[in-house]
Amino acid sequence: MPRDIIIDTDPGQDDAIAILLALASPELNVLGITAVAGNVPLALTQKNARIVCELAGRPDTLVFAGCDAPLKRKLVTAEHVHGKTGLDGPQLADPTMPLQDRHAVDWIIDTCRAAAPDSITLCPLGPLTNIATALTRAPEIKQAIAEIVLMGGGYFEGGNITPTAEFNIYVDPEAADIVFSAGLPLTAMPLDMTHKALTTKPRIDAFRALGTRVGDMTAAWTDFFERFDMEKYGSEGAPLHDPTVIAYLIQPDLFTGRHINVEIETQSDLTLGMTVADWWRVTDRAPNCMFMGDLDAEGFYALLADRLARYS
Ligand code: BDR
Ligand code: CA
Repeated sequence: MPRDIIIDTDPGQDDAIAILLALASPELNVLGITAVAGNVPLALTQKNARIVCELAGRPDTLVFAGCDAPLKRKLVTAEHVHGKTGLDGPQLADPTMPLQDRHAVDWIIDTCRAAAPDSITLCPLGPLTNIATALTRAPEIKQAIAEIVLMGGGYFEGGNITPTAEFNIYVDPEAADIVFSAGLPLTAMPLDMTHKALTTKPRIDAFRALGTRVGDMTAAWTDFFERFDMEKYGSEGAPLHDPTVIAYLIQPDLFTGRHINVEIETQSDLTLGMTVADWWRVTDRAPNCMFMGDLDAEGFYALLADRLARYS
C-alpha cells in the first residue's frame, strides 16, 4: 500500500525536484500539495507547484494555496537563490490546471479529520506556517499524522540565511517551534546532511542524459541555483535540499542521524531561527526529533535518476 503524503512547499527548484520525485514513486500517494509563502510570495509558489505538476504530466494533482505570511513576522524571501519567479531557469508556460478553491490549512484539517489514525505523512519543504496553523487550529488532527518529515535547520553546519539559521526555520520560527514541540514523530533533514547531497557535474549530466523534458528541466534547475551556491560555499556543486525528504520516505537506509532534542530559538535577534540540537545529549531535554547528519549521496542521486527516468 503506498504511503499517503501531503507535500507542503514553496517551490523553489529543489522543491520542484522533490515533487517530481514523489509523483514518480509508486511507494507514495500524494494526496495534495499545499503551497506556502517562502522562497517567493504565495502567488508564485502556488503557481510554481502547478507548473511542476503539469511538467510531471499530473494535472490531476490537488494544489492548494495556504498562508501568505509567517505567523508573526514579515515574509523573508530568497530570490537571490531561486530567481525572481522562484523557479528561474528555462521559461515554462503558465499552468492551466486549476488551483483548488479551498485554503490549504482548511484542506489539511479536513483531510486529517477524515483519515484513519497514523495514516498521513506530512512533508514540509518550506516555512512551517501552514502546518503550524493547522496544528494550532485543530490539534485533534494529530491522531491522523503518522509522521512529519521536513527539510529545515542546521547545527554543525550553521545557517544559510543568517550565520546560525537555515532559511525555512528562520522565515517562521514561531511556526517551527509549534511543529517541533507538537509531540509528533518528527524527522528533520538539516543543512548538516543536505550539504553532503551535492549536484556534481556527473550527477547533473545523468539527469540530462535521460533525454526527456523532466531530465532537461532538472538539469537546468540545478544548473541555475548551483551558480549561487558554488560561489557561496566554494563547493563542487549545490546541495539539493528538499528531495532528501522524499528520498527518505522511499529509502530510509540512505540516511543516518540521531534521535535528539531540538529546540527553536524564537527570541534572540542574533540567533533567531536557530535549531538548537542536543546532538551530544548534554541536556536532559526529551528527544523530539530524528535529526539527520549524513547520507549516502551516491545512493540518493541514483534513486533520483532512477525515478526521474520513469517520466517519458
Ligand atoms: C531550504 O530553503 C529553500 O531555499 C530551499 O527550497 C530549501 O527548502 C534550504 O535552506
Ligand atoms: Ca523549499
